[in-house]
Amino acid sequence: MNKDVLNLDHCGGPYDLTEANRETGYHPWPGTLAEQAVIAFFKANPTRIAGKRLLHLGIGNSSVFRAVGDHVSKFVGLTVCLPEKIHFEQTFGHPAHAEIHFASKHDPRNYDKIVGPFDVIVDVNLKSFACCEQHFQDMMALYVDRLAPNGVIITAATGLRFGWSAAKRLANTPGVSAGEAGRSWRILGEQGVQQLGERYGLTLEKHAVRGVAHWHGQFDLSGEPDIADESLWLLRKG
Ligand SMILES: C[S@@+](CC[C@H](N)C(=O)[O-])C[C@H]1O[C@@H](n2cnc3c(N)ncnc32)[C@H](O)[C@@H]1O
Repeated sequence: MNKDVLNLDHCGGPYDLTEANRETGYHPWPGTLAEQAVIAFFKANPTRIAGKRLLHLGIGNSSVFRAVGDHVSKFVGLTVCLPEKIHFEQTFGHPAHAEIHFASKHDPRNYDKIVGPFDVIVDVNLKSFACCEQHFQDMMALYVDRLAPNGVIITAATGLRFGWSAAKRLANTPGVSAGEAGRSWRILGEQGVQQLGERYGLTLEKHAVRGVAHWHGQFDLSGEPDIADESLWLLRKG
């Protein structure tokens, strides 16, 4: 059998985080268009976030907490990059209503730490960094289990089109396979999100967010920020 197919079905893990997870992070870079669109959506719809319990997967440069931290009643963030957790703590200290875990969302050994229920779960890269189908579905089952009745998972169209190639030695999900087969498998797509809705009994809503300022080349900060439209997908429980 093709090794990639085997690995993408089940990576053989979960595996422990590595030295690379302690060394690199995305916090020096601006947030993605996807995340900027989520923030714009919350700013335009403050009742979606006021007093709510929020789980954020992939804290990056802490933009989401910066935007909504004063409004939510609880914030739990995950990252597989230790420097991102350190950056959060250096920027915000240890707010009583917030906790950041250096832990993989694709590792069920961590799930006891993620105590719900949550009204909102933000993950703009649902499958983009997944190691295999087993641990992707474990993550989805976790999200659905931790959602409060009427709670929503929020993701974004550009994140649905992104699959990490795993070619660079950057912090990532341990057990992730490099190469084209893995990259294209990590592209969930709009059809994939609709299938998740059916599988987990979630109702889907799509929201357009217009005119979002972001850096087009995320790792190239030359020039002015770009302005683009984005679509958010909301997957509602119940
Ligand atoms: C490209 S950065 C994006 C940061 C931010 N969410 C944004 O959209 O601007 C990828 C983020 O996903 C996180 N990440 C990647 N794989 C993960 C995993 N298996 N579990 C938890 N977080 C993960 C990284 O730690 C990092 O915060």
